[in-house]
Amino acid sequence: MSAIWNSSHRFDLKAAEWDENPRRTALAESVAKAVIETARPSASMQAMEFGCGTGLLTLALAPHLGRLTAIDTSEEMLGVLQKKIETLGIRTVETRCADLLQTSNADLGVDELDFICSSMTLHHIADTQALLNRLVGLLRKGGTVAIADLDLEDGFFHDDETEEVHPGFERSRLQAMLEKAGFERVSFRTACEVSKTNRAGEMKTYPIFLVTALKH
Ligand SMILES: C[S@@+](CC[C@H](N)C(=O)[O-])C[C@H]1O[C@@H](n2cnc3c(N)ncnc32)[C@H](O)[C@@H]1O
Repeated sequence: MSAIWNSSHRFDLKAAEWDENPRRTALAESVAKAVIETARPSASMQAMEFGCGTGLLTLALAPHLGRLTAIDTSEEMLGVLQKKIETLGIRTVETRCADLLQTSNADLGVDELDFICSSMTLHHIADTQALLNRLVGLLRKGGTVAIADLDLEDGFFHDDETEEVHPGFERSRLQAMLEKAGFERVSFRTACEVSKTNRAGEMKTYPIFLVTALKH
């Protein structure tokens, strides 16, 4: 079978059990903590998260932000998040099924954002530079981006070899791409580490970075 980039069907199938993996919930918790400490979100900020999935990061950050638009390409992942929003009676988070690279700002329902965040989604998007350029177009001058993802890995992090992904990112190369897109004050930290038996059957530890930057 040939490799496929961002099959929303693949995530649709995983949605119902997504939150049952304690590695995922712990990762999101660590990323949320790192984002709050480093990027200092505030209740006055209009925000967006791309690749929100079932909302593990979304719901941890929502109390620290103003309106938050949570975007994903998987209807089923968003459906899980939507149920949580309704159950918890959250009024500040809106979900939207969209691919950022295919959707205008008007269709996303956002305008001049203060804050964009994401966790573990960047490596699923084929054209990293196009995505970063798009983020710049969504932010106001001085707006913040906070993205968590895998550091450059051995290529065995994902269990499914037919899934086309970036094998994490080299920090210096991602910094250059952010600066090329129009970000400044780019800063990396390690948000957490994920230890797991990888696709090659080896127990490995994979660091997860958080990069923050401001729109120039
Ligand atoms: C590995 S999951 C991470 C989900 C969530 N952030 C978490 O940490 O649990 C990646 C998510 O990104 C979504 N995704 C992939 N490509 C996307 C794109 N181009 N635009 C929006 N969402 C995308 C997938 O549907 C999936 O829900």
